[in-house]
Amino acid sequence: MERFVIQGGKRLKGEVSVSGAKNAVLPIMAATLLSQEPCLLENVPLLNDVFVMIQALEQCGAKCKWEGDSLYIDTSAAYPGVLPEVLTKKMRASNLILGPLVARFGEVSLPFPGGCNIGSRPMDYHLKGLEQLGAVIGEKNGFFEAKARGLTGSEICLDFPSVGATENVLMAAALAKGETVLQNAAREPEIIDLANFLCSIGAKITGAGTDVVVIQGVSSLGAKKNLTYRIMPDRIEAGTFIMAAAITGGDVVVKDVDTEDLVALLAKLKEAGLRIAQYDRNTVRVKPSDRLRAVDVRTMPYPGFATDLQPQFMALMTLSLGTSIVSENIFENRFKHADELRRMGANVKIIGRAAVINGVEGLCGANVEAPDLRAGAALVLAGLAAEGQSIVEKIEYIDRGYSFLEKKLAVLGGDIARVAIMPEVANK
Ligand code: UD1
Repeated sequence: MERFVIQGGKRLKGEVSVSGAKNAVLPIMAATLLSQEPCLLENVPLLNDVFVMIQALEQCGAKCKWEGDSLYIDTSAAYPGVLPEVLTKKMRASNLILGPLVARFGEVSLPFPGGCNIGSRPMDYHLKGLEQLGAVIGEKNGFFEAKARGLTGSEICLDFPSVGATENVLMAAALAKGETVLQNAAREPEIIDLANFLCSIGAKITGAGTDVVVIQGVSSLGAKKNLTYRIMPDRIEAGTFIMAAAITGGDVVVKDVDTEDLVALLAKLKEAGLRIAQYDRNTVRVKPSDRLRAVDVRTMPYPGFATDLQPQFMALMTLSLGTSIVSENIFENRFKHADELRRMGANVKIIGRAAVINGVEGLCGANVEAPDLRAGAALVLAGLAAEGQSIVEKIEYIDRGYSFLEKKLAVLGGDIARVAIMPEVANK
């Protein structure tokens, strides 16, 4: 077990590169289960969730091998393995193997997935979509059991533009017989990345990134030998660094981003008074700014303000001038960081799905606990800005989604260290 120890009050300065996107690589890794040929994924972030997905693929007969930050995956001899519950409990994205396995093998048995505790996160949209393609899905003793005698393309309209449900339907429909028209699809950039990967292994998909995606099913996937595919940059990690610079009044160049994916965040930050320069599509510079003004945000499906950036934005607003209202419209239980921010002197009240944040002049260091992945990142940002020492516990949540977070922040001048917790202390 480990924790972050942060001495706050240092302005971040310098350059940082963003890693490959967690939310793109996980569905793409799941999609490799559809392919008869091996492939090499480049720009794969070293994250706990990626390590868990490797174990999940290996349980299904895949061979995975690291080559630097590239991951070689051979699923030519894959089979519908049953993942142990201990694996699926660690990561909700394990549910993404449902679509590929049922499409390729006609059967799958999957324990209910776990992941960050940020709401009830049911799977009904995934199941409904797969059922409309012809799968028969039951729930027994904590397992989903899906069977299909060949899937058939269909007209599907999601009740909500769920990212995971869109991905599962996309992957399953790629091997279904005939055409699938998916309405009210999620439009996140990671959906485009998945569709691009699927097309590169022979799928026929148009409209990814819009709310209507059309998939012409093919009989097998794995069109190319020696396929190499590069994972898109992580827009949530990029946004986190941009806000880390902002909260410390720093001067930071964030490289290897795609600024087109960050429009909603950058607009809000500019509205708050942050000085931002965009030299080209892949680089953002945050310049030292005066105290930011309070602005309101509402989380929405893409291209709206990302729920995964809400906790970090709330941390930023705790130090702003005035009162800001942050409304969370995607997950019903995503304000757990508010209690921890209060320990650091923030003035935050939660009223239903809204957080009312009265900006204070300064935060003070405190011992806090990461309640989930992005909330943990928000606490790190608050710690970097606070006066004195902060300790962030339960950083295993943060390691699920950030690759070398403390090292990247330290290169920018942040005083943050990963410290092992002695077993006798950890047990207290
Ligand atoms: C993905 C992201 C996560 C991000 C979220 C929203 C990955 C690996 N994770 O999660 O980081 O926060 O998108 O941008 O890409 N819902 C249902 N039934 C379903 C599916 C979803 O009710 O069958 C609800 C969820 O409870 C939630 C909302 O729909 O309230 C959005 O969830 P969804 O878009 O599916 O998120 P994930 O794919 O789980």
